Amino acid sequence: METKNIGLRGIEVADTKISNIDGEKGKLIYRGFDILDLTKNSTFEETAYLLLYDQLPNKQELDEFNAKLVDARYIPKQMQKNMGNWRKDADPMDMLQAFVSALAGYYDEEFSNKDASYEKAINLIAKVPTIIASWQRIRNGLDIIDPDSSLSHAANFLYMMSGEKPDPEVEKIFDVCLILHADHTFNASTFTARQVASTRAHMYSAASAAIGALSGELHGGANTEVMKMLLEIGEINKVEGWIKERMKAGDRIMGMGHAVYRTYDPRAQVLKELSGKLAEKTKEPWFAMTEKVETTTISEMKSQKERDIYPNVDLYSASIYYMLKIPVDLNTPIFAISRVAGWAAHIIEEKFAEAAPKPALYRPKAVYVGKYCGPEGCEYKTLDLRK
Ligand SMILES: CC(C)(COP(=O)(O)OP(=O)(O)OC[C@H]1O[C@@H](n2cnc3c(N)ncnc32)[C@H](O)[C@@H]1OP(=O)(O)O)[C@@H](O)C(=O)NCCC(=O)NCCS
Repeated sequence: METKNIGLRGIEVADTKISNIDGEKGKLIYRGFDILDLTKNSTFEETAYLLLYDQLPNKQELDEFNAKLVDARYIPKQMQKNMGNWRKDADPMDMLQAFVSALAGYYDEEFSNKDASYEKAINLIAKVPTIIASWQRIRNGLDIIDPDSSLSHAANFLYMMSGEKPDPEVEKIFDVCLILHADHTFNASTFTARQVASTRAHMYSAASAAIGALSGELHGGANTEVMKMLLEIGEINKVEGWIKERMKAGDRIMGMGHAVYRTYDPRAQVLKELSGKLAEKTKEPWFAMTEKVETTTISEMKSQKERDIYPNVDLYSASIYYMLKIPVDLNTPIFAISRVAGWAAHIIEEKFAEAAPKPALYRPKAVYVGKYCGPEGCEYKTLDLRK
């Protein structure tokens, strides 16, 4: 007997009201709303509210939610001091995972009920950008910049990271990136968060596990790898040869392919436009190079495997962040700044579902293919008898 299903592809494990992907049509909805509408009309804050509370806020609700987020942006000074003890070349995802987990140790918090979980969700959404920006300043020997309450979530992060307040166009581009990354049904990190939450572990614990899952290059780590790839290739006329060689060697091209979409990822479409727009402004080669990566991978996939492949969310976000002067190794932490809204919504749904079928503790079945010495089991030899 062998495993029937690799990687749980296509297996339905729980109900959700939070988001849905139509992989054939290339559509993504959050709580019933098409993400393309949200990117045009909404903000990250409003989208986070929608994901958490299942409805768009009215003006008063949004003002209150914003005020709570702004109040919660600060992280303990002691935490920032402790960050100073880390190696300056430590991976920002490791640092983020550790300090999100550590939040539980800094505050005396109630986790057991749904209302308290919403407060934790706001705390997480507000504090993740501050943790990342603080680390960016600390590791570069720069003074930490406190959050600015007059700035939006998107603008405040860029400001805390760089010390410069972004112009409205840059703020909008970054805000759209945050909206697009906020949720994506049962992707690896969200499923991790739900799985941890299904044990009734608390929200910070579930979110820190999700950060670990996001860090891998087959998931959120892909956007960092895309930029490393572009930098390694260096110029547009080397793209084709580089991609062909890697694909012939059986390597995966980061930012391409998706477990669910069988057509263009709608997020990649929006990001492609934004990257193109930014490139017109900055005159940098990264957008054109990324387009070449896309077309070469598509044609190589066709000729090598007779399969279609499309860009995913990570392909064009890499060049956008680079043109926004964000350090390459912060690409994946930035994914977390946004995705934490989705994780929090899923953790709450997992733990506090009111209607049947209620989620249960996840416990899949494994197919044992290990040692077998007969029905009695293998003979146990004491240490002195083993060779
Ligand atoms: C995302 C990803 C894991 C989805 O994979 P999947 O649905 O499991 O697709 P499969 O693993 O079934 O791949 C199908 C085939 O396409 C190939 N393939 C998939 N993605 C590829 C890529 N990015 N580059 C080259 N080949 C790829 C696989 O090698 C496989 O070929 P095979 O059948 O000869 O073994 C995969 O596309 C990938 O590794 N992409 C690169 C990492 C990335 O960008 N991740 C971010 C996702 S949002």
